[in-house]
Amino acid sequence: SPLAALETAPIDPIISVSEAFFADTNPNKVNLGIGIYCDDSGKVPVLDCIKAAEQKFVAAGKPKYYLPMDGLGAFNRAAQHLLFGAEHQAVRDKRVVTAQTLGGSGGLKVGADFLRVLNPRVEVWISDPSWENHTALFEGAGFKVNSYPYYDASTRSIKLDAMLTTLRGLPPGTIVVLHACCHNPTGLDPTPRQWQQIRDVVKKAELVPFLDIAYQGFAENLHADAAEVGRFADVCPLVVVASSFSKSLSLYSERVGALSIVTGSADEAARALSHVKRVVRANYSGPPSYGGGLATNVLTDPALRQQWEGELAQMRDRVKSMRRQLVEKIRARRADFDLNYVIEQRGMFSYSGLTKAQVGRLRDEYSIYALDSGRVCVAALNSRNIDYVAQAIANVLVT
Ligand code: LMR
Repeated sequence: SPLAALETAPIDPIISVSEAFFADTNPNKVNLGIGIYCDDSGKVPVLDCIKAAEQKFVAAGKPKYYLPMDGLGAFNRAAQHLLFGAEHQAVRDKRVVTAQTLGGSGGLKVGADFLRVLNPRVEVWISDPSWENHTALFEGAGFKVNSYPYYDASTRSIKLDAMLTTLRGLPPGTIVVLHACCHNPTGLDPTPRQWQQIRDVVKKAELVPFLDIAYQGFAENLHADAAEVGRFADVCPLVVVASSFSKSLSLYSERVGALSIVTGSADEAARALSHVKRVVRANYSGPPSYGGGLATNVLTDPALRQQWEGELAQMRDRVKSMRRQLVEKIRARRADFDLNYVIEQRGMFSYSGLTKAQVGRLRDEYSIYALDSGRVCVAALNSRNIDYVAQAIANVLVT
């Protein structure tokens, strides 16, 4: 058989955890693996703003002809403004192109393919650690993927000096993947001062920043969480941004995201867009209209937009409350462990510090699923499972 020598592909370190969770018959099971927000009843919410947007979408009754390769124009404008602000100079100069993509992953992939066309000789650098799929995704686009120092597990801080030294030594044109907010998996973002130092080095070394922003709105608010996008666009001649509405609009399965590219002129932008369209056409032809249509309705209707911001704030606040409660409940059981850093981490995740062996015990003894790296999705905790999880973690912590 032509497939006789084919080996089974390695399992995905995040999706496989969810698969194991679904196969588990324990009624107390908890999935802290994948980055999905669940409400206090343990369900992935359908936001009220989305319910209204769905009614509007259906009422419009638009025919389902193909969308353009770069998606809905209204969506692209709104998604761009959400990232940069409508008044950003690059937006006013029409130097930014935005294309609707299949989620944030789609934005990363189309962006990676575009950058490969632009310069096939450069390499990609991601943080150590980073989202597990970054490596596979950029390698899949043909790049060699390396990592720069980022997280210091002993101090639970950013290895800024080592990071900057590494970035300074990279050849011009090297692609540097940065998490614009809510760093995945550590939940540890640079301070404004650290961001400035990173930007200065990226600019001086003539690197290409590729900003991944999948959790906009989960740290402070929509505006503040995207601040670095605009700031990099202020100083770098080429900036690539992959953004996602999976989490912020709770539209995971609809695959709604965007790729934005900041260029040096409107003419460059038009040429860049022509390549983005070519990449899309050669991969999947164009995006679907439903999820993009819903997002457009929410982003462009002032009432729905306001409703969304309120619902997003509720999700964000609930996650923060879960962080605090988890730390308190573990402290009540194990006063010898100070997990206060969990409260400071931003976004959906906590880089808990649990070892692979402890994560294994949580899974095998309690049917609580987390990533081997110790990453825990705090957004999956709720008032019904948090005591169970806190007790289980307290039990597996070893002094
Ligand atoms: C995660 O990191 O869990 C999320 O971004 C979901 C995914 O696709 O991996």
